[in-house]
Amino acid sequence: MESTVDTITAVRATALSLESVSRRYGRRGGGREAIALDAVSCAVPAGSFTAVVGPSGSGKSTFLQCAAGLDRPTTGTVRVGGTDLGSLSEAALTRLRRDRIGFVFQSHALNLVPSLNIEENVVLPLVLAGADPADERVLARGRDLLARVGLAGRGGQGPATLSGGQQQRVAVARALVTEPDVIFADEPTASLDPESASLVLGLLRDAVRIDGRTVVMVTHDPVAASWADTVLTMDGGRLR
Ligand SMILES: Nc1ncnc2c1ncn2[C@@H]1O[C@H](COP(=O)(O)OP(=O)(O)O)[C@@H](O)[C@H]1O
Ligand SMILES: [Mg+2]
Repeated sequence: MESTVDTITAVRATALSLESVSRRYGRRGGGREAIALDAVSCAVPAGSFTAVVGPSGSGKSTFLQCAAGLDRPTTGTVRVGGTDLGSLSEAALTRLRRDRIGFVFQSHALNLVPSLNIEENVVLPLVLAGADPADERVLARGRDLLARVGLAGRGGQGPATLSGGQQQRVAVARALVTEPDVIFADEPTASLDPESASLVLGLLRDAVRIDGRTVVMVTHDPVAASWADTVLTMDGGRLR
């Protein structure tokens, strides 16, 4: 028998776990039921950089949506930082996503709020959690993160004044601001030129190596996947 202490240590060392997670979509127009995820199990260690690869339609986005609490699995258990997402109410799940998960989406156009300036975008998760946007500590945190992603002094500008690659770097800064348990990225470099993609991937890698964050990134690009420590390959809704 494992002791309680060993069990707690094991839970802490795993940032994300899926236990036999399935996601099925109901028949539409008399078609077959779609099994987007088929009894997927995995454990992602804290402080690691994992890439999820696989052909189109293999279930990568569904994996990410279920793992990040954006979608609920049909069966199975997802834990983030030891918390069973299935045990949470919608309100508690929303709080967990806000406070303990960071997101970087595929299109930079979807990532940033156009009516907020760059610095306001970076600290938005803190403000949504109740921080005062005028608090000097909040402002300093925004400035530090912008410097970190190579955009010092640009905080007062609107997102539209930045290139796509620069906007994705702002999205990475925002994903780091709450010091989340896991940062999820779905094709974060899909619309970027190779040089901008390398900058974004380097920031994600540094978040892991320097800050000890945990990153799970979906990509169909083998070059992007090569930045990760671990590559999970999906095929037909299963991990290969
Ligand atoms: N909302 C949905 N309704 C029905 N089927 C879906 C839905 N979302 C995804 N699927 C199906 O689930 C499978 C996996 O999709 P997805 O996770 O988007 O794959 P990937 O991201 O690897 O391209 C596909 O067969 C897709 O058609
Ligand atoms: Mg996808």
